[in-house]
Amino acid sequence: MNMRTQVGIIGAGPAGLLLSLLLAREGIESCVLESRSSEEVETTIRAGVLEQGTVDLMMELGLGERMQREGAVHHGIELRFDGEGHRIPLSELTNGRAIVLYPQHEVLKDFIAACLKQEGHLLFNVKDVQLSDISSHQPHIHFIHENELIDLRCDFIAGCDGFHGVSRSSIPDTVQRVFGRTYPFGWLGILMQAPPSANELIYAYSEHGFALVSTRSPELQRMYIQCDPHDDIANWSDAMILEGLQLRLATIDNWQLHIGPIIQKSILAMRSFVIEPMQYGRLFLAGDAAHIVPPTGAKGLNLAVADVRHLTHALTQFYQKKRTDLLEAYSTTCLRRIWRAEHFSWWMTSTLHRFPDDDPFQQRLQRAQLEHTVRSRAAATSLAENYVGLPFDW
Ligand code: APR
Ligand code: PHB
Repeated sequence: MNMRTQVGIIGAGPAGLLLSLLLAREGIESCVLESRSSEEVETTIRAGVLEQGTVDLMMELGLGERMQREGAVHHGIELRFDGEGHRIPLSELTNGRAIVLYPQHEVLKDFIAACLKQEGHLLFNVKDVQLSDISSHQPHIHFIHENELIDLRCDFIAGCDGFHGVSRSSIPDTVQRVFGRTYPFGWLGILMQAPPSANELIYAYSEHGFALVSTRSPELQRMYIQCDPHDDIANWSDAMILEGLQLRLATIDNWQLHIGPIIQKSILAMRSFVIEPMQYGRLFLAGDAAHIVPPTGAKGLNLAVADVRHLTHALTQFYQKKRTDLLEAYSTTCLRRIWRAEHFSWWMTSTLHRFPDDDPFQQRLQRAQLEHTVRSRAAATSLAENYVGLPFDW
């Protein structure tokens, strides 16, 4: 079967779904192809920190109603080291900007509901997605949906299919450059049925390694501890995880973690990754398909949002004014913000984790960096500015 659309979007994660919604607002038709089922997309546990700019955009699109009701606005974070907590007053340092904790899968539910209401297509459970003719003016996406082989003719293709997707490999090796780091640690993440232990997120550095206390709701808490990325989660009993958290979060004034049953646990690897350029012919990559950050700075979803805003603007100018300059500049425009976030995420990660091969010198440097961050208003402001997110046109 043959189909046609203006923008063929591969992947229904935050990048693909938001792109489709933003394009629809400009009267541009799209078709989103997702290999997983909608249930799977809506239940995969990911991060949950929305930058001010992401929150503002959701409100502007009329998609912020549930986020406003169920999300929690946070005006600060805590950096904890040497057994003491230090508050970074995000809003005070950034002219009132803040973050909202609202889980990514809830964002996805809101996006999917909105996409299903609008015209255009959102297809789940597609198989064997392949791209062709991307350097021509009429690229195609071939895929199988409900046992039917479909040839989707597009003006443009947006590769929003995440780090393990197929789009990125369509950019010839001869034109792409890849930059990356893998880290010698991962995060063991849990969901715990317990009341919150703190009003704000806690990022803790200790001799036992990193820990993060986050939240999902008044009844459900999200926490992480640094671990060996190759470890098997089966090696970690609930008691070991609890002990790990308590050791890393201990304070001199005997702070107590509120505990309860652990209902989910898994290990995540951490990497930094960027492909340049993010475009080739009529293919444009956005989100995790083009770049990965370690989760320490909570930038992943927010970077995807910034990419698709730029892409929408460039495509709108193309359709309305026949301008091609913004499309040509897409990669360069996005990469400025991406590299800022790559640096910030790498910095947070390097400062807060114990490295397997570190020595006392490196540990002293980490501590000096943390001291500077909490004692110097300029350094705290730099952290706050990056954490709440730089302005969209940065
Ligand atoms: N065909 C169709 N869909 C695909 C294919 C494929 N070959 N490969 C992957 N996908 C889908 C995945 O199933 C997933 O739903 O593409 C989607 C990509 O979504 P994400 O991985 O969430 O990536 P993105 O939309 O860029 O979101 C930004 O930043 O830090 C992260 O957790 C954060 O997921 C968030 C991401
Ligand atoms: C989360 O709530 O899952 C979370 C919060 C902050 C991070 C990473 C993950 O930096």
